[in-house]
Amino acid sequence: MQVPADVERILIDEKTIEQRVTELARQVSQDYADVDQLILVGVLKGAFIFLADLARKLTIPHRVDFIALSSYGQTATSSGVVRLIMDVKVNVEGRHVLIVEDIVDSGHTLDYLLRNFATRNPASLRSCVLLSKPGRRRVDVPIDYLGFEIPDVWVVGYGLDYADKHRTLPYIAALKPEVYQS
Ligand code: IMP
Ligand code: MG
Repeated sequence: MQVPADVERILIDEKTIEQRVTELARQVSQDYADVDQLILVGVLKGAFIFLADLARKLTIPHRVDFIALSSYGQTATSSGVVRLIMDVKVNVEGRHVLIVEDIVDSGHTLDYLLRNFATRNPASLRSCVLLSKPGRRRVDVPIDYLGFEIPDVWVVGYGLDYADKHRTLPYIAALKPEVYQS
């Protein structure tokens, strides 16, 4: 497949992602082996591919639901203001909730999600995040399961976008800085 012109380099290839997601699924399956009612809450749109792959590798019963939050729009700058656009359908009270997110950058989004879900009295609440940019953190948020740490670059592919582009690339790639810094 042709690498798009605005992609600088591939950071994590398909095979490496697949192996790591398999490991995460094994860990989650072990940790939740004795609970019923595990609910995976995927954060739209960025986590849709990660969640689909992770969920299909789980060896324990689980349900899948989604939540949608406001995004950065077309820029690469976080306002720190998070808005809920679509809520989950399921009532999570007394259930085990695992938030599945594509990437933690400033931490504002995951911080908002954890606070929001904590008020709904779940039996437990954890996060499973594919990518983290530790150098960009403004809010200290707990990540219980992490795929990869990456440097401070804008990444696309495997669900992640730039202005809604490149979500379905099979790998995770860094955009050319001139694309998002202009
Ligand atoms: P935070 O609230 O600053 O941690 O940002 C988290 C959200 O910003 C993620 O859910 C992504 O939707 C988006 N985001 C942050 N960095 C990137 C990136 O490099 N590529 C694509 N989306 C990103
Ligand atoms: Mg997101």
